[in-house]
Amino acid sequence: MENHRLLSLTMALLGFLSPCVTTLTPRVSFPVGSPGRHLTRFSSPDVSNTTTLLLSEDGDMLYVGARDAVLALDVSLKEAIVLRSKLDWSPSDKDLEECSMKGKKMADCPNFIRVLQFLNTTHIYACGTFAFSPCCTYINTESLMMSVKPDEGRGRCPYDPYQRNTAIIVDGELYTGTVADYRGNRPVISRHLSEGRRVDLKLDDTLGWLEDPTFISSSFIPDEEKIYFFFSEVGREYDFIDKFIVSRVSQICMSDVGGQRTLQRRWTTFAKAQLLCQADNELPYNVIQDIDSLPPVDGAPADDTLFYGIFTSQWSVNSGQSAVCSFRLSDIKSVFSGNYKVLNRDTLQWSTRVQEKVANPGECGLHNASDNALRFVKENFLADDSVRPVGRSLTMVSTEHNYSHLTVQRVQAANNRDYTVLFLLTESGYLNKVVLLQSGAHIIEEIQVFEKPQPVKSLKLSIPKGMIYVGTSEGVVRVPTANCSFYWTCAQCVLSRDPFCGWDPASRACVETSSTQTSLGQDIDRGNVEEACFTLTHRARFGPNNLPAGELVSVSLNEVVRLQCPAASRLSRQLWERPNSRLSSDLYLHLEDGSLSFVATPATLGHYLCLSTENGYQQTMAIYHVKQKSSPVPQTPTSYSRPQSPPIPTTRADRPGVHTSVDPKRTETRQTETEPTPTSGDTRVTTRQLGRNFTTLWTVGSGQKEAELRDGEPLLSSRGPSYLKELVIVSVLLVLCLSLLITMFLYVARQRCRSRTAPQSGTPSRDSDRRTPVEQEALRGNQFMSKRNGQALHSGQASGLVCNGALTGSNGHLPNTPI
Ligand SMILES: *[C@@H]1O[C@H](CO)[C@@H](O)[C@H](O)[C@H]1NC(C)=O
Ligand SMILES: *[C@@H]1O[C@H](CO)[C@@H](O)[C@H](O)[C@H]1NC(C)=O
Ligand SMILES: *[C@@H]1O[C@H](CO)[C@@H](O)[C@H](O)[C@H]1NC(C)=O
Ligand SMILES: *[C@@H]1O[C@H](CO)[C@@H](O)[C@H](O)[C@H]1NC(C)=O
Ligand SMILES: *[C@@H]1O[C@H](CO)[C@@H](O)[C@H](O)[C@H]1NC(C)=O
Ligand SMILES: *[C@@H]1O[C@H](CO)[C@@H](O)[C@H](O)[C@H]1NC(C)=O
Repeated sequence: MENHRLLSLTMALLGFLSPCVTTLTPRVSFPVGSPGRHLTRFSSPDVSNTTTLLLSEDGDMLYVGARDAVLALDVSLKEAIVLRSKLDWSPSDKDLEECSMKGKKMADCPNFIRVLQFLNTTHIYACGTFAFSPCCTYINTESLMMSVKPDEGRGRCPYDPYQRNTAIIVDGELYTGTVADYRGNRPVISRHLSEGRRVDLKLDDTLGWLEDPTFISSSFIPDEEKIYFFFSEVGREYDFIDKFIVSRVSQICMSDVGGQRTLQRRWTTFAKAQLLCQADNELPYNVIQDIDSLPPVDGAPADDTLFYGIFTSQWSVNSGQSAVCSFRLSDIKSVFSGNYKVLNRDTLQWSTRVQEKVANPGECGLHNASDNALRFVKENFLADDSVRPVGRSLTMVSTEHNYSHLTVQRVQAANNRDYTVLFLLTESGYLNKVVLLQSGAHIIEEIQVFEKPQPVKSLKLSIPKGMIYVGTSEGVVRVPTANCSFYWTCAQCVLSRDPFCGWDPASRACVETSSTQTSLGQDIDRGNVEEACFTLTHRARFGPNNLPAGELVSVSLNEVVRLQCPAASRLSRQLWERPNSRLSSDLYLHLEDGSLSFVATPATLGHYLCLSTENGYQQTMAIYHVKQKSSPVPQTPTSYSRPQSPPIPTTRADRPGVHTSVDPKRTETRQTETEPTPTSGDTRVTTRQLGRNFTTLWTVGSGQKEAELRDGEPLLSSRGPSYLKELVIVSVLLVLCLSLLITMFLYVARQRCRSRTAPQSGTPSRDSDRRTPVEQEALRGNQFMSKRNGQALHSGQASGLVCNGALTGSNGHLPNTPI
């Protein structure tokens, strides 16, 4: 009965735990300076704020927009990034003075380059904030000389260096999204540098086509002859007291030349729609932070283009979390070709009214259209439907990382299948490499690229060179997309599940998939070591008689012994075993770092194995042989610690701060090769190197205790056996207390986890009572929207149904907020 209850309690506890266990943990972590991930940096004392990046087509030259300068960096060399030339471009003292007179901080007055695009084969077009008076210029790509006198930068570049903007040059014309005034409240999407019959175009600003937007990105889709802009803005169609932020995609046609009378020099093809990164019944991740496009595979239609975006939430419930959603171009197109919302000019309320379509908003080629048609597209620019993510679900959610930037790549694995790999930059300076699997996202590794939080940063991927560039105020960092040679065993190579890397049995090395034609050991989907590393399938399982000699640990009786066990990765679980003997918790203490602690007694002498289990694969990480000192030999404990013992297999074992391991099989093989007649392991200290750090092999007091040991005086026995008993009792009590604490902690964590983890399916979660009214409203609004969007607008019921009206009705006293 009692046991049953205990069992069910344990089960309940496990049940509590499981969703938290699935939180995404990077498998390996490389802090700044790790030898396993060698990064190349460029920084120079007279260059700062290197945050706008432009990569040449061949990937050999990186142009950088910095503070008061444009740089040309040669990135074709393996060892270093070399500054080829530098263009100084700073405001005059008079400009700076005016800037600070206007009340701006002196630190924000320099010329921060915010637009850097190739104009043609010989020139770059660049714009900078130029002391809150934006300026643009043409720069020769070879000499890095300014060739023409500067252009006015209004509408092309922000005034404030902290304001986000986007710019793209296609066919010599510049398409931008930025604010076009000093105060920062006149946002525009516009076209510049048009020539001949083509005229520069901008948004009509009488109707509020944009509502206080933050521009994120722009993307050119050649097959569509369209430019898509991504931004977040205030969602006026939601009738809340607070500002409800929505993420948007908008489009314009490149062929647009404006209307003839109506919409003269204005876009006739502008349309926008909501991008919804939301799981059912959960608050949306409503604020887009970054987005990157993934072109379709060769031969597939452009409609299969995907956009991967990072989204965060405006609400505190989800603060510090971020989600990745992907959107398909065909879904965006079908939303733009559907119905549009109507704005009531008197009440400033948006509604969905089924109306006669005078024209198709968002359609290209309206230059010759009638005034009537142009008036219609001018007023109908907000698509009724929202763009929903691929699979109607979130691609991944991170509860612990606040991602700010991403870039995406399709990688062909050894089995010729394509995998999507995301590189996500966290606010705290780590680059996470993530592979998207059927079973969810798997974080292959995290690499620290900067140390202090950076207000402005950018990310650029060079697929042909396999490099990622991160630009921050600290400088430019180059990160190779993979370092396969870091995985030094087949098991590690396969467990990494890195599509870039596979195990080459011939060279016995983990190599880049793209570098070889031979068949490699790799299993991205399941990470099954047994199958992928077929040559290594025999598992090392030791009986009492065939135990190989382990690390010899000579101890005195009653000494406290601590055995270390290195972790293979952050996803591995360590386990201690003794042949033919259980590790009773009365005698053994499992410490948090995976090490084992116990008191040396005749019963605890013998062999110990540390096993590491990851993804169902078990490997031996360390073998120890604990043996009583034969006689009071003047052998001090320090002699066992072997801090500098030369590692036998390779030098790879000493990697400070990186979770590593050494495959015991490899070392075993070596041993049998070099020593065909294994002697009884007891008589020698093997030179086997199983872990990465042996400086603290076990803890024995130093100094005086050492002296005691040297005198042959057992450390504890001199004080009688009662002491030992007490020690054991205290240990047991400690363990009990610890487990109680852990249980409580788990319970609390679980409660937290409930409210913090990603959308769980099912009924409305219990967060609902923790939400503020606005959050509730947002949730309800979206549910409402989604329901309504789900039904076809068929019946007469739907016509005249006012979205806002319904929402207001649900909360009777909510007034309409006038714009
Ligand atoms: C890759 O890892 C190996 C082993 O840790 C290391 O020696 C090498 O420098 C690393 N290379 C890069 C480019 O990071
Ligand atoms: C420029 O860099 C400095 C640090 O060097 C940083 O404090 C500042 O915020 C940066 N300014 C911009 C606009 O990025
Ligand atoms: C590129 O544009 C610049 C500036 O308009 C112009 O001077 C130059 O001749 C152009 N180069 C080519 C190859 O068209
Ligand atoms: C997460 O990052 C976004 C974008 O950089 C930032 O606005 C937000 O304050 C961050 N949130 C937290 C909790 O750090
Ligand atoms: C507009 O229509 C006129 C004739 O109606 C035609 O000559 C002209 O080419 C058309 N313009 C465009 C851009 O199609
Ligand atoms: C080994 O561990 C000790 C103590 O934990 C630490 O001081 C030392 O730096 C580590 N050495 C390596 C190579 O990791």
